[in-house]
Amino acid sequence: MKQDMIVILDLGSHENTVVARAIRALGVYSEIYPHDITVEELKALPNVKGVIINGGPNNVIDGVAIDVNPEIYNAGVPVIAAGHDKALCEVKLAQFENDEEAIKVALKDFVFDVCKAEANWNMTNFVNDQIELVRRQVGDKKVLLALSGGVDSSVVAALLLKAIGDNLVCVHVNHGLMRKGESEDVVEVFRNQLNANLVYVDATERFLGKLAGVTDPEEKRKIIGSEFIRVFEEEARKLDGIDYLGQGTIYPDIVESGTKTAKMVKSHHNVGGLPEDLQFELVEPLKQLFKDEVRACGLELGLPYDMVYRQPFPGPGLGVRCLGEITRERLEAVRESDAILREEFKLAGLDKKVWQYFTVVPDFKSVGVRDNARSYEYPVIIRAVNTIDAMTATIEHIDWAILDKITARILSEVKNVNRVCYDMSPKPNATIEWE
Ligand code: XMP
Repeated sequence: MKQDMIVILDLGSHENTVVARAIRALGVYSEIYPHDITVEELKALPNVKGVIINGGPNNVIDGVAIDVNPEIYNAGVPVIAAGHDKALCEVKLAQFENDEEAIKVALKDFVFDVCKAEANWNMTNFVNDQIELVRRQVGDKKVLLALSGGVDSSVVAALLLKAIGDNLVCVHVNHGLMRKGESEDVVEVFRNQLNANLVYVDATERFLGKLAGVTDPEEKRKIIGSEFIRVFEEEARKLDGIDYLGQGTIYPDIVESGTKTAKMVKSHHNVGGLPEDLQFELVEPLKQLFKDEVRACGLELGLPYDMVYRQPFPGPGLGVRCLGEITRERLEAVRESDAILREEFKLAGLDKKVWQYFTVVPDFKSVGVRDNARSYEYPVIIRAVNTIDAMTATIEHIDWAILDKITARILSEVKNVNRVCYDMSPKPNATIEWE
């Protein structure tokens, strides 16, 4: 590993990831560790140039104040305490909560003047380091990857492909609930352009069959989730000599910011319940990256902008936007109206502004007129929301002219639809998805 590192010890601060990101923004790599790391563990980390002890309101567990192991002050690297009032020398960094500029200056002084760290954290070095690490980890063995086409799995695929080429086997399961053109894009980019070893499974009929007649949202989700694992497992069993499983785990999956120090490190995702007897060792080259860094990594690896900057898409796909029983007719209406919405948002520049936007088709009809005759067709509901963490959300105030245009296109181009509505509900009381 070539890059220098500043270690942040979480002593109950809500701001650990903020500090880590601020240091990485200076071009210096930074990782967060629990407060009780031992001096041996600290010394075993590569290229540590300094330590920031980041205190905060959660530094009391079960009524007892926690502290770092005192011997880490003798680890041979500069140690500074921040965010709590232990000593005068900490005052500069104690301004963390309220003055962004002061934080930046203080961090910069510490990182470069005190720790003498070099600003050598960048995507080119990261990618090169990870390629080397993956090669060291897997040797000439094979890695299996479930390539959904989402940002994280796509970036992992591109990275592993660079590292091990044909020894990466990607499996893309099309559950028939993908957005328009999405599975085709995965095949085009990974198989045709990047020459990846890609197994494409069109399981549309199988999924729609399992979902026929099912109306309960939770049951739909369960069926889609378990069927997905079943299909993936069947494909995995057909392949010979796979020892590793690639995973798009990223840093927020591992670090839980803003919770009690004791809970800071979450257990890794296992593969959404893959059977016990499918045992693989994991390869997780993105597990130290924040989401925006994953995107930068994707661009560095040459993935298309639209793939790297696509909006979040739920695992059950359009299945949770085709309300109630999933029928082909309404699934088509969701898919086509969603494609129109995405196209128009892109034209209007809203795709770069709005966090998530999609259409929903409910399972009831209303009366309308078409060609001077009565029609009885479905409505399409447009949803466009902004959020920081998806826990709460506000709606986007879209210009009427844009909504008018989208409505006109949906009404003329999408079959079985005679009405378009805009969902005005924030989260709470609504959720972002309808099911
Ligand atoms: P809700 O509807 O809970 O959605 O407000 C919050 C965010 O999570 C996404 N979402 C999912 N993502 N698998 C996912 O990977 C899922 O099953 C799932 N359900 C909801 C949703 O799109 C929104 O961004």
